[in-house]
Amino acid sequence: MPPTEPETGAVARRGPAAAVADGRNGMPTVLLSHPTGGSVEIYLHGAHLTRWRSAAGRELLFVSEYSEFEPGTAIRGGIPVIFPQFGPGPLPKHGFARTREWELVDTGVDAEERATATLALRDDEATRALWPHAFRLELTVSLGAALELALAVTNEGTTGFTFTTALHDYLAVDDLRTARVEGLQGARYQDQVTGAGGVESRAQLTVDGEVDRVYLGPPGPLRVHTGERVLTMAWEGFSDVVVWNPWAGKARALPDLGDDEYLRMLCVETARVAAPIRLGPGERWRATQRLAG
Ligand code: BG6
Repeated sequence: MPPTEPETGAVARRGPAAAVADGRNGMPTVLLSHPTGGSVEIYLHGAHLTRWRSAAGRELLFVSEYSEFEPGTAIRGGIPVIFPQFGPGPLPKHGFARTREWELVDTGVDAEERATATLALRDDEATRALWPHAFRLELTVSLGAALELALAVTNEGTTGFTFTTALHDYLAVDDLRTARVEGLQGARYQDQVTGAGGVESRAQLTVDGEVDRVYLGPPGPLRVHTGERVLTMAWEGFSDVVVWNPWAGKARALPDLGDDEYLRMLCVETARVAAPIRLGPGERWRATQRLAG
């Protein structure tokens, strides 16, 4: 379906709406707005959701003041799309989807009266040089009273491939030291700081140091408490949840994160990490993440 005629300038206020606008460094973005007052901003660079503003005008996602907005570099914050490799490995860390330019293929209003935008990424010479597979990746963002992201991967080649993936949310928190994540109790985890595995015993997870854990198969939903707010995260198709914060030491080593910014963010990511997905020729995999806050 061709994209609807892009509007420029202010986003219409009455109904759900989509508009195309220049972002930082003139990089193209899509803006969605909803009559309840919420809005989102998505960079075509990485199909990266960089802003989700609630009806009350509150920013629900964290983006670093030091983030680069440059071709070839991942934006620090928002919701990076991780594909086809989560974490380190033979490909660049967290894959290449977050550093590629995606195409805006559709905007509109869906049956639930949500403002929607669909962005796509296909293989090209540069991706095939890294990962020799024909694929189509699609991210559909739907903004209503809640925010939904649907990620679909299609194998467009003649041989099978496997991948790992995540939607790597940087949630904005008032103060990391008092934020709590509820819903992981009883889940097995792999701790990427210590290398140890275990079972989460806490009903509410708090962070008082570096945290980097992959929780295997928690059923969800999660509730993230910060200040007076509670954000819920639910998903389908993803199986794992990653909780990450670099804390002070590692934050200092990240050039695109301010020394104290780690206190205002907590990454809670829905992922398929432990069991990579295998797609045969023509097969498609789809997963959704739903946020309400
Ligand atoms: C998390 C990983 O998902 O992303 C961490 O679990 C990693 O190990 C973090 O450090 C950030 O990665 P990057 O490449 O964006 O600095």
